[in-house]
Amino acid sequence: MLLKRLLPILFLAGISTTVFADQSVTLHSPDGNVQLGLLHRSNGDLTYRVFYKGKTVVAPSGLGMRLKSPELSLSKFDLLGIDSSVTDETWKPVWGEVSQIRNNYKQLLVKLADRSGSGIQLEIIFKVYNDGVGFRYSFPQQAKLNHFIIGEELTQFAMSGDHKAFWIPGDYDTNEYPYYTTNLSGVDATGGGAAQEIHAKTFFDKSAVQTPLMLKSADGLYINIHEAALVNYPAMNLVVDKNTFTLNSHLVPDAVGNKAYLQAPAVTPWRTIVVSDKAGEVLTSKLILNLNDPSKIEETSWIKPMKYVGVWWEMHVGRSSWDYSGGQVGSQQATKVPHGANTANVKRYIDFAAKHGFSGVLVEGWNTGWEDWFGQWKEDVFDFVTPYPDFDVKELKQYAANKGVKIIMHHETSGSVTNYERWMDTAYRFMKKFGYDAVKTGYVGRIIPRGEHHDGQWMIKHYERVAQKTASYKIMVNMHESVRLTGLHRTYPNWIASEAARGNEFNAWSVGNPPEHETILPFTRLMGGPMDYTPGIFKIKMSHYNPEKKEQVHTTLAKQLALYVTMYSPLQMAADLPENYEAKPDALQFIKDVAADWDETKVLDAEPGDYILMARKAKGADQWFMGAITDENSRGLGADLSFLDEGKVYQAIIYRDADNADWKNNPEAYTIEKKLVNKNSVLGLKLAPGGGAAISMIPLTAEQQLQMKKEIKALPKSKKKK
Ligand code: NOJ
Ligand code: CA
Repeated sequence: MLLKRLLPILFLAGISTTVFADQSVTLHSPDGNVQLGLLHRSNGDLTYRVFYKGKTVVAPSGLGMRLKSPELSLSKFDLLGIDSSVTDETWKPVWGEVSQIRNNYKQLLVKLADRSGSGIQLEIIFKVYNDGVGFRYSFPQQAKLNHFIIGEELTQFAMSGDHKAFWIPGDYDTNEYPYYTTNLSGVDATGGGAAQEIHAKTFFDKSAVQTPLMLKSADGLYINIHEAALVNYPAMNLVVDKNTFTLNSHLVPDAVGNKAYLQAPAVTPWRTIVVSDKAGEVLTSKLILNLNDPSKIEETSWIKPMKYVGVWWEMHVGRSSWDYSGGQVGSQQATKVPHGANTANVKRYIDFAAKHGFSGVLVEGWNTGWEDWFGQWKEDVFDFVTPYPDFDVKELKQYAANKGVKIIMHHETSGSVTNYERWMDTAYRFMKKFGYDAVKTGYVGRIIPRGEHHDGQWMIKHYERVAQKTASYKIMVNMHESVRLTGLHRTYPNWIASEAARGNEFNAWSVGNPPEHETILPFTRLMGGPMDYTPGIFKIKMSHYNPEKKEQVHTTLAKQLALYVTMYSPLQMAADLPENYEAKPDALQFIKDVAADWDETKVLDAEPGDYILMARKAKGADQWFMGAITDENSRGLGADLSFLDEGKVYQAIIYRDADNADWKNNPEAYTIEKKLVNKNSVLGLKLAPGGGAAISMIPLTAEQQLQMKKEIKALPKSKKKK
């Protein structure tokens, strides 16, 4: 690591509390585009501001902390000194959207003392990158502060205007909301919005929103505000001041209203501001990952990105039940359906996985407790080791092993986390004994310990414990209903995905996700890490399962394919039923071919809420995959293929919406075309309303090149002038 002194120490230690002149400091990103300004006023106020290419990203904004114990506001400071450094290093993620990540930033470490005379010291560390700014508070070891309780963090993000915002309501327990698009002055999350289908939500302020918050300014800046390395601290919501467009941090409280219990030395998560004048550069930003600690797991060969299927969607569409007795979750109806996780049915999925090259089969509803869990706030529900009588765990172990497939364990905790903590070791040992090396956890319902919240400090520590403990058993974990991600998968790469947003499953049993949903998620939830969105639904309308059902997936089939590229996850489900795939083997081929781990990612074009066009190169293979998705509007996009290798000819297979397709009336109509392309080609893609296109590009073999000489000759020799 290159560490060098940038500036001399600007202020000498031990400045007295007497009034002195305002002092300011400026720091530019390595490329000069991002500028951070700090201003320390003679009255003790400290503010920061951020510019991008001269435009205001964050106007002067306050910093500080309100402590509850000792009771004290840390908001007026004496400046003790500033240290500076530069870092430029490159690291390789265990898995990811790219194979190498450059971590290049300039840093200021600002040393402060409380001006009120408590003797308490605080540091704020700022890192300025080419793609934005991260900062965190640090309480060094000190004589005057040991144990303390945070009452509120006083961080502000003052926006320069009434930006367009892509937001979900602030909440202590859930992020499974559809997105709202309004200006900041129009944020109104009264009652937590219209989403009545979310089981446990805790609305607290109609002006509050969650992060990652995506913003677009009238002067063309794309701004994303979130946090990185959320450890031992609650998640941050933002309360919008609609007159000044200032976003005020609001931490998730615990059962008695406190925000965080810390002991010096302690640090907060990083507050992150990603900025660019190109939307695509927000999607490729690695700032949040760079702000997380390197992997704590040394030997990582057992961590494997994968595609999987599951005894899962059939429960969501109401064909079978998690519950052995056939009761349906949340339904008052007496209608019973078969138990899904029975040995014969699981074997059917294992056969399907083996035949089509899927490595995993998730099985939900295999264990006792499902008959008595939903909405009860009951402590001892599941023990995570007792199968229902029709699920033969030994036989399935053997069967899966013979077929070279891994069963993925499911632990629904029902929010009873004290119970899960008691069972974790036993449950993971059980998994190892029966050959499981991945688990999907879930936290549906209100949390026990009662009064704690999904996104509070107690649960943040729980998720980290799960990541650590599963790692100690060499188990990969995919958490549903967890807190939104903050890049911690760099530190715990076995934490291979989370849901923590409104997944595809909502389309099966609620008003669902509007067609724009998947064009917003990469700019919001996925900024913090991969999402188990569970794409790949081919039977779009739920009337297929029950003529009375009006629910449907709000995309075309082709768009479901494109999501494997646009919705990043190293754990990708092919979520639909085997029979629905077997009815369309030509479309299934794309899901079979597409990679789950990548060497390169290129965003060719994107606009949050409207469309995304992305290309990715498979890890360790000369294969490119492209995904294009649109909102409810049809649109044409041009994919410039200049990222392809010079001199190579690729076979492109284009899975697109049929000319008469649309998400509402004709969602399953698709067309598959083959074309030869090279780096001079521009592929015109026409997307239906709510539609998409998925494209695989694989270089021709020498033999194919001989056979297709004529077609190759017809390819463009150089880029057409635009
Ligand atoms: C909600 C999860 O998101 C879903 O995937 C799971 O099937 C149910 N909970 C039951 O645990
Ligand atoms: Ca969920």
